[in-house]
Amino acid sequence: MNLKDEFIKYFVAHGHIEIPSAPLIPENDPTVLFNTAGMQPLIPYLLGEPHPKGKRLCDAQKCVRLTDLESIGDKTHHTFFEMLGNWSLGDYFKKESIHYSFEFLTKILNIPLERLAITVFKGNKNIPRDEVSASIWQSLGIPKERIAYLGEEDNFWIAGESGPCGGDTEIFYFRSNDEIPKNFDPNDDRWVEIWNNVFMEFFKDEKGNITELTQKNVDTGMGLERVVAILEGVDDNYTSSIWKEIIGALERVSQKTYQDNEVSMRIIADHIRTSVFISADRAGIRPSNTDQGYILRRLIRRAIRHAKKLGIDTNTNWMEPIALEVIKKYENYYSEIKDNKEVVLEVLKNECIKFNRTLEKGLKEFDKLLSHLNGNIIDKDNAFKLYDTYGFPIELTEEMAHEHNLEVDTKGFKEKFLAHQELSRTASKGKFKGGLMGHSEIETKYHTATHLLNAALKVVIGPSVHQKGSNINEERMRFDFSCDHKLTDEEKKQVEDLVNNWIKEDLPVAMDTMSKEEAIKSGAEAMFVEKYADIVNVYKIGEVSKEICGGPHVAHTGVLGHFKITKEEASSAGVRRIKAILE
Ligand code: ALA
Repeated sequence: MNLKDEFIKYFVAHGHIEIPSAPLIPENDPTVLFNTAGMQPLIPYLLGEPHPKGKRLCDAQKCVRLTDLESIGDKTHHTFFEMLGNWSLGDYFKKESIHYSFEFLTKILNIPLERLAITVFKGNKNIPRDEVSASIWQSLGIPKERIAYLGEEDNFWIAGESGPCGGDTEIFYFRSNDEIPKNFDPNDDRWVEIWNNVFMEFFKDEKGNITELTQKNVDTGMGLERVVAILEGVDDNYTSSIWKEIIGALERVSQKTYQDNEVSMRIIADHIRTSVFISADRAGIRPSNTDQGYILRRLIRRAIRHAKKLGIDTNTNWMEPIALEVIKKYENYYSEIKDNKEVVLEVLKNECIKFNRTLEKGLKEFDKLLSHLNGNIIDKDNAFKLYDTYGFPIELTEEMAHEHNLEVDTKGFKEKFLAHQELSRTASKGKFKGGLMGHSEIETKYHTATHLLNAALKVVIGPSVHQKGSNINEERMRFDFSCDHKLTDEEKKQVEDLVNNWIKEDLPVAMDTMSKEEAIKSGAEAMFVEKYADIVNVYKIGEVSKEICGGPHVAHTGVLGHFKITKEEASSAGVRRIKAILE
């Protein structure tokens, strides 16, 4: 049985429309590096915007969660995973949602009711205890002793700090051959969570205020990898059918068995799979020192070091046979994997060559360091040298240090790093977690150029032009906007000229902080009004542009160079896409 196909089939049969997985790299949300849940691309619709496909949706969404990075190597964690989900956008609520989940688990997957247990939200000062869900579960035959009421940390769900949210009910499975205890204890780790049904009826703003949404939604998420392992009766996810061929290829390449080499093999398999998905994404991410590119680099380099531990000759194209198994497994589900196969193999190969040039010397340097170390801390200068001269991501140095019971002065390293790059200005707090340092200089320039392009399009095409999305990397900017026709050569030329004139005029870029209402009243452009905090930053470029934006931006347009449109094409119905570069 194929869980993904069965899940979609079931929900389609119950009136849901299957939607394609959104890209792994969010198109319109610069605040997160990767999609981390099925609901993330659906936020505008959970907030009330009508979804073109209707009110009942389902999909398998590609996700990357980096909070789990340190745990990779154990039996259950992955950086990349697929989340199965079904949504009601202001349509059905608790009763139908719970019925669907129950029926799918017990009738389609044939999981015995005795193996299931439930948690529901016990409520807080604003929201009552969820007796409604509890009684629905009981009406389906779940005994009282198998239902636990838990607080906010466990049964209230929100992506990040603010946004749509609500209490949830989680479904647990007894994953053990032991006798099933009569009473459910959520702290007993033989019970594992398999499905989360969130009843999204609230909105939490940045200050923590909770208000009711205009519609009551359901957002569910089921981790594919975990449930497949359960259905196949294995307690190590990496021994399920999902990983069979991938681990098999790794065993052949290393000429070692999975047994006895589990940790390194899990890390390598996981990191190669995630790297394939990141580099295949149409956002065009390549290994670099910022944002998603930095994560990609980190994953590949960590995989290379573990390959060395397994005795693989990393000077060969050893990743390719493993990556090919990943591609084979997913290309029929995700077209970008098929389309970008060659690119992905190239990315892996090149990054491998690059790191190999310095890896050996870096490892020697590390050993030398150990023999001279006073105390148990690798200081910032040595950590920086390993990074700068030998290409060791700081996290790799940390991991190696931990293997020797040592610590790294990471804080000192980051300070040194920022001072070195002279980019501390743009290292925003949120981004620091994901990429080493916010945005590069060229990406900052592209941010500002995006505002100029938006303004120029309004002049040339008309005020009906609105931004529909944007994406920036070190090589180019991409901008989606509403427009009902293909741009003529004349129009493109006018847009380019206008932007280049504004660059030549060296207009000042000024930032102002104000309330969202004030910003909108003042005529500032905004893309997702609902998603912004109450207090926003408004960037003004001379008198030509005013937009709500998180930045970062250059101080004067004169530094942008020459603006050139490289492509203009259709993005979706009524939406055009421009790719442009600064030369
Ligand atoms: N959004 C919910 C989760 O990720 C379903 O658990």
